[in-house]
Parts: sequence; C-alpha cells; structure tokens
Amino acid sequence: MAGINLIKHAPGAPGLRFLGLGPGLMPIRGMLKLKLLLDKHAFWADGRTNAQLRILLSQSTVVVSLWRGKRMVGFGRATSDKVFRAVLWDVVVAGDLQGRGLGRKVIEALLNAPAIRNVERVYLMTSQSAEFYQQLGFENANSQKLLLKKQLSN
Ligand SMILES: CC(C)(COP(=O)(O)OP(=O)(O)OC[C@H]1O[C@@H](n2cnc3c(N)ncnc32)[C@H](O)[C@@H]1OP(=O)(O)O)[C@@H](O)C(=O)NCCC(=O)NCCS
Repeated sequence: MAGINLIKHAPGAPGLRFLGLGPGLMPIRGMLKLKLLLDKHAFWADGRTNAQLRILLSQSTVVVSLWRGKRMVGFGRATSDKVFRAVLWDVVVAGDLQGRGLGRKVIEALLNAPAIRNVERVYLMTSQSAEFYQQLGFENANSQKLLLKKQLSN
C-alpha cells in the first residue's frame, strides 16, 4: 500500500521509547501514537499505561511499526532467545486499513529479523485471527496445550 512507512526498530526500541521517534527519525510523540493504536484497535492491550508500554518495548527483542504520515497504523513485536524459541506479540493493524496487506508486512518484517530468522520455532497466541496466521505458514499446535496462569487483576 502506497504512503506507508515500515520502521524496524532497534532492540528495545529506544528511539521510540525515549524520544517518540517516528518515520525519518522525527520526534512525533510516538509513545502516544502507540497507545492510541493499541487502545483503539487491540482489544487485549486497551488501557496499558505509557510506563507499561515503555517496559514492554524495552523487553522486546524485535519491534516493528507502520506509519501513515504521523499516525501509527500498525505494530508488532517479538521476544526471542535467538536460537530456539521466539514468540510474536501485539500484532495489530488499524481497523480502517485492515485487509490491504499491512498485517502481512508486519509479520514478514518480524519473521525476517535476524533475531527471529534462525530460531527453531516461532509461537504466537491469537483468539480471533488464526486464519490470517495460517496463510502465513503458521499451523495449529495440536500436539501442544496452551496453559495459562492468571496473575494480578488481569
Ligand atoms: C489480524 C490483522 C493483524 C491482519 O492484518 P491485515 O492488514 O488486516 O491483514 P492483511 O491484509 O495483511 O492480510 C493478509 C492475508 O490474510 C488474510 N486475512 C487477514 N485477516 C484474516 C482473517 N481474520 N481471517 C482470514 N484471513 C485473513 C487476507 O485476506 C490476506 O490474504 P491475501 O494475501 O490472500 O489477500 C488485523 O486484521 C488486525 O489487527 N486485527 C485486529 C487485531 C488482532 O486480532 N490481532 C491479532 C491478535 S494475535
């Protein structure tokens, strides 16, 4: 899609975290833009505070964002041990721009990142978008069970 910039952030996304950098390394309140995107379009990540988002970024091995002008319109991140296991988290495209290939771009950028490319297995959890990921080479993990321990109030 024309007019979209994809940013592959440094590990932990320090430019976004500390300076709010967007396309062209311009300071455009990137943390606010990230919060707006997640609050509006990522139902599982609604209401995360700036402080929490800063920690989340700092602990992410790979971070990718998509921009249309000064608006963040897509995001995805991954944690990885760089050899055996990586997990994708918080993949989202703004609702009005879904279905135009942007989600695919986010996933491809994450999977092609050096910290992800060479790991044995890449995992992800999704409640509503399994078919999207199946198109991109992910399979149902029928041999494994997802276990969950709920902590704090969430
Ligand atoms: C899931 C999401 C990231 C996909 O991004 P997107 O930009 O809409 O997807 P794309 O346009 O890149 O789609 C790529 C392909 O997947 C298909 N696809 C997209 N969403 C799909 C879905 N929910 N079910 C089935 N196929 C889907 C598209 O038709 C397209 O196929 P094509 O290349 O043959 O045309 C986006 O819709 C989104 O943010 N949804 C809400 C948040 C969410 O649920 N995120 C996942 C949580 S883990």
